[in-house]
Amino acid sequence: MLGKDLLGLEYMSRETIEKILDTAGPMREIMHRSIKKVPALRGRTVVTLFYEASTRTRVSFELAAKYLSCDTIGIASAASSVAKGESLKDTARTLAAMQPDIIVLRHPLAGAAALLAREVGAHVVNAGDGAHEHPTQALLDLFTVREKKGRIEGLKVAIVGDIAHSRVARSGIWGFSRLGARVFLAGPATLMPEAVEKTGAVVASLEEALQDADVVMMLRLQTERQKSGLLPSLNEYAVLFGLNRDRLGLARPDALVMHPGPMNRGVEITPEVADGPRSVIVEQVENGVAVRMAVLYLIAGGGSRHETLD
Ligand code: CP
Repeated sequence: MLGKDLLGLEYMSRETIEKILDTAGPMREIMHRSIKKVPALRGRTVVTLFYEASTRTRVSFELAAKYLSCDTIGIASAASSVAKGESLKDTARTLAAMQPDIIVLRHPLAGAAALLAREVGAHVVNAGDGAHEHPTQALLDLFTVREKKGRIEGLKVAIVGDIAHSRVARSGIWGFSRLGARVFLAGPATLMPEAVEKTGAVVASLEEALQDADVVMMLRLQTERQKSGLLPSLNEYAVLFGLNRDRLGLARPDALVMHPGPMNRGVEITPEVADGPRSVIVEQVENGVAVRMAVLYLIAGGGSRHETLD
């Protein structure tokens, strides 16, 4: 159902997304056992190859793999031959020769995961490629919302901030739209991609986006991908676009506050809102492990060969 690789949500069917979310439920139950290990993927090897910084995604993929009894190897570009000038293609061929089953890649260039997938026989999972896609982040966001709200269909989802440089926003737009939510985008004009309405999302003012929203997703300014001069100052951005208690008052009383992390408290979100009763930011992190367990399990063929999770 998942195919060889998981590169993005743009072309993923609703049925496949729902299968991953349905599989993540039992996976999260495993995380709460005293012995957090099932033999589902025993003997499989997962390599995590990260060319960019990460806490949540890297650790959660490695934990997910370990909970499924995979052998795992983590490679950070600074500690590998990448630091000696090796290209992604050559690194890919080198890794492929060692016969891993799954490679999880984060890379600053859009399309890097697709390139790797063409080069290697291993399954490739995109853990973020430039400003293109971060599919497992969107899947964990969908899982969190579906669990809290009981549905995605018909919800109003506001995504606020640096849309132009955000792979989280791009995968979120595809995922939430495919499952029937209405996605509203708000942010400075300099951080709004051209023709983003073609995705089906609505570009709106901050107030329009927040009004009666069921979900408010705040984004970090992706300064590592921004050209200079896009914003006058962080302070002005915080004043004009930061989520505070007053602005959250525009959303529905039971609206969920989400953030993919890492957060810049006091910039895109106030600490009061980030730690407040509507925030599900910590649950997003927990659900990230469960969703990545589901992705590894399904992509490696689990569930299609009468393997059991026990
Ligand atoms: N959300 C996310 O991708 O976080 P990390 O950069 O810490 O992996």
